[in-house]
Amino acid sequence: MSLRDSRIVVGVTGGVAAFKSVELVRELQRRGASVRVVMTRSAARFVGPITFTGLVGTPPVTDLWDPSYRGEVHVELGEWADAMVVAPATMQFLASAAHGFADDPVLATYACLRGEAVFAPAMHTRMFERASTQRNLARLADDGVHLVGPVSGPLASGEVGLGRMSEPSEIVDALERVLGTRADLAGKKVLVSAGPTYEDLDPVRFLGNRSTGKMGYAIAARAAARGADVTLVSGPSSLEVPKGVNVVRVRSAREMHAAVVGRRDEADAIVMTAAVADYRPAETAEHKIKKGDDLVLRMVRNPDILAELGASRTGPRPVLVGFALETQDVEGSAKRKLEKKKVDLVVGNEASDGFGGDTNKVVIVSRDETRTLPLMSKLDVADALLDRIRDLLAR
Ligand code: C5P
Repeated sequence: MSLRDSRIVVGVTGGVAAFKSVELVRELQRRGASVRVVMTRSAARFVGPITFTGLVGTPPVTDLWDPSYRGEVHVELGEWADAMVVAPATMQFLASAAHGFADDPVLATYACLRGEAVFAPAMHTRMFERASTQRNLARLADDGVHLVGPVSGPLASGEVGLGRMSEPSEIVDALERVLGTRADLAGKKVLVSAGPTYEDLDPVRFLGNRSTGKMGYAIAARAAARGADVTLVSGPSSLEVPKGVNVVRVRSAREMHAAVVGRRDEADAIVMTAAVADYRPAETAEHKIKKGDDLVLRMVRNPDILAELGASRTGPRPVLVGFALETQDVEGSAKRKLEKKKVDLVVGNEASDGFGGDTNKVVIVSRDETRTLPLMSKLDVADALLDRIRDLLAR
C-alpha cells in the first residue's frame, strides 16, 4: 500500500534523534502523504521549527496557546490524520502518553487522535530498559499503539546499545503496514465515474463540458487508500490515475454507459461523479463538417446511467451515489434527484464552489437526513462521503 493521499501528523519530542524527524517528513512526502508537524518545546531545541515550515509549507504546532490558531488545533489535527507518527518518542513522552497526559501539543494531538498511532522510541539504553519505560510501552501497546524500534547502535552518549531510533524509512514502512491493515473498505468493490463525456460531431469536433474529473479522482484515490478495490470509469481527463486504481477510459456517454452497466453486478457501491452529457448530436459526420451557412444541430438524449441503475436495482446493492451540480437551490434539487433516480445518496454542490478547483462545499442528502459540510478539500469531501458509503454497506 502506498501513502498516497494519506494524512499523517508527525509528532516530534525532545531527543537528539529529532534531527532524523526531518528526514522522516521528507520520506513521508516522497511516498505521497500530506504531512503536518507538531512538536514539543524541547524538540524545538533540537531541531528548528522553521525547517519543518520549509518542508511542509505550514508551520509546525509548537504551542497550544498560540492565538493564531483558530479553534483547537489538536482537535482539528486529531480528526484530520489517518495516523500520527511520534518520532522520536522520548521516555518522558511515552510515560505521559501511557498515563493520559495532554499538556503539550504532541500529547494533546495524540489524545484527540482518531486514526492509528505509531511511536518510534529513542533514548539511552538504561532509560529504555528502565522498568517504568517497559511498563509504559506495554500499556501503550495494549492501548493499540504500534511501536517501531528502538534498535541497537551508536547512541548520542557515544556508547553502543539498544535505544537508537529506527531509521525514517523503516518507520514509514511500519506506518504503511499499519494503514494497510486499517483499511475500512477492504474487500469492497467501488466503481467511480469521473470527468466529462465528449460527444463527437465529426472527426475533429466534439461537444463537452468543463468537468476536470477532480472530485471523482479524489474519491477513487481515497477509496483505494482505504482498501477498496476501485475501478474508475473516466471520461477524457488529464489527471493522473491514483495509485492502485483500475482505470477504464471512455469518451462518450454511451461508452460510459456500457462500461458502468457492464460492471454493476460486481460492484458494492457505484459513485457517479461524471458530468455525463445529457445530449449528443443525432449524427456524427464521417468527414469534417465544412463551413457554410448557419448550422443547425439536432441533439438526441443520452441514456441516464444513474437513473437506469436506480430503476433496475432489486435489492440494497450496489449502494448508489449521484452528484448534483447546480447553480441554484442545491439542496432542493439534490433531494429531488435522490427520489427521481432512486439512489441512496446525492451530493449536491454549487457550480461556483467546486468546479475545477481543489476544494468543494457540499451537502450530502440521504433518505433520512441532510448533512451540510463546510468548504473542504476534495479529498476530505471524498472521505466524508466514503464514511457514509461504508456505513450503508454495513447495514
Ligand atoms: O440529472 P443530472 O444529470 O443532474 O444528475 C446528475 C447525476 O446523474 C450525476 O451523478 C451524474 O453522474 C449522473 N448522470 C448519469 N447519466 C446521465 C446524466 C447524469 O449517470 N446521462
